[in-house]
Amino acid sequence: MKSLSLTITDWFRSRFPVDRDSILLSLQEPVPNHLKKWWWCLGGMPAYLFVVQVVTGIMLAFYYVPDPSQAYESVWRISHEIPFGWWVRSLHKWSANLMIVTVILHVMRVYFTAAYRKPRELNWIFGAVLLIVTLVFGFTGYTLVYEQLSYWGATVATNLAEAVPVIGDFLARFIRGGDVVGASTITRFYILHIIILPTAIAIFLVLHIMMVRKHGVTELHFKDEKPGAEKTFRFFPDHILTELMIGIGLLIAISAIAVIFPPELQEKANPLVTPAHIKPEWYFYFTFRWLKLTGLTMAMVTLGLAGAIFVFWPLVEPLINRLFKRDVSIPIGIIAVIGILALTIWEAIAY
Ligand code: HEM
Repeated sequence: MKSLSLTITDWFRSRFPVDRDSILLSLQEPVPNHLKKWWWCLGGMPAYLFVVQVVTGIMLAFYYVPDPSQAYESVWRISHEIPFGWWVRSLHKWSANLMIVTVILHVMRVYFTAAYRKPRELNWIFGAVLLIVTLVFGFTGYTLVYEQLSYWGATVATNLAEAVPVIGDFLARFIRGGDVVGASTITRFYILHIIILPTAIAIFLVLHIMMVRKHGVTELHFKDEKPGAEKTFRFFPDHILTELMIGIGLLIAISAIAVIFPPELQEKANPLVTPAHIKPEWYFYFTFRWLKLTGLTMAMVTLGLAGAIFVFWPLVEPLINRLFKRDVSIPIGIIAVIGILALTIWEAIAY
């Protein structure tokens, strides 16, 4: 007589087209040897952190109230009254910041190893959309707390939108839901933060990983490679094990950081009093310093242009290389990193 487990397996197989063998077969893909080194696997980290964001975000959504008259108070309740609320909020905040750090490191790895070149141009563009969505995710989340600085940060950001040529006024009103940051803005940012942006990340993440699977990961060669040695190893179980270890390490790290440095709650937003020093979150320091240096319209135009060059870099690069008659991607990358770092540090230490 058939065992119960076999009967259940047969029942599922005849109704659901995916079984264990086909999943195992799809996981047999060989991956290049350099992925044994964990720092070449940085792309997996933001994916892990996104899952942490979704889980902790759902927990926070049970208690957060998206209304200017109660938003700040509901965050206070999460931090001080709801059991373990401070911990969940801290995990959410730290993994958001770490997600941005790891995406930036991943972009640097991809850029400086020229892994965006043919046939991976489109995947770079999908990745760039992921970076932009991740940054907007952070910005909308920060605004939801409705602190004085986050309120005025949102005011500056939406004023920036106003400076966009031709469509500026419409764009700013559309984002704010009115002339100033208020109840409609919170509702819009909340919908963006809990529905539109997570869905966009999920869709682009699937596209991104599908493309990585289609083209494979760029093969790189190192001096310590033995001649004639196997150039690839198995995705399952070997690479999955590396990713699992990275994931567990990451979870331990953010749990520890979340406990040691729980987020504070600053002063409540006051739309009638502009603070003496407005500062956005650290990942927008460079844009804010640039804005102070160049003025609203100039900043919008130059940042828009730089953003477009970044998104379409794999298509722009050949034109620039042709202009200079040699490969200038590395010097351009180094100048961009130093420039962004310098503006960020300047803004961080300046009043
Ligand atoms: C939420 C954000 C992101 C996630 C979760 C993610 C995930 C991944 C993963 C898992 C890989 C496989 C190799 C590796 O781990 O390095 C990968 C490769 C790649 N990513 Fe991302 N990525 C993200 C953002 C970006 C961004 C912002 C860019 C560029 C603007 C980008 C461009 C690429 C490219 C071109 C590859 C292929 C690299 C190669 O063939 O070596 N990704 N990504």
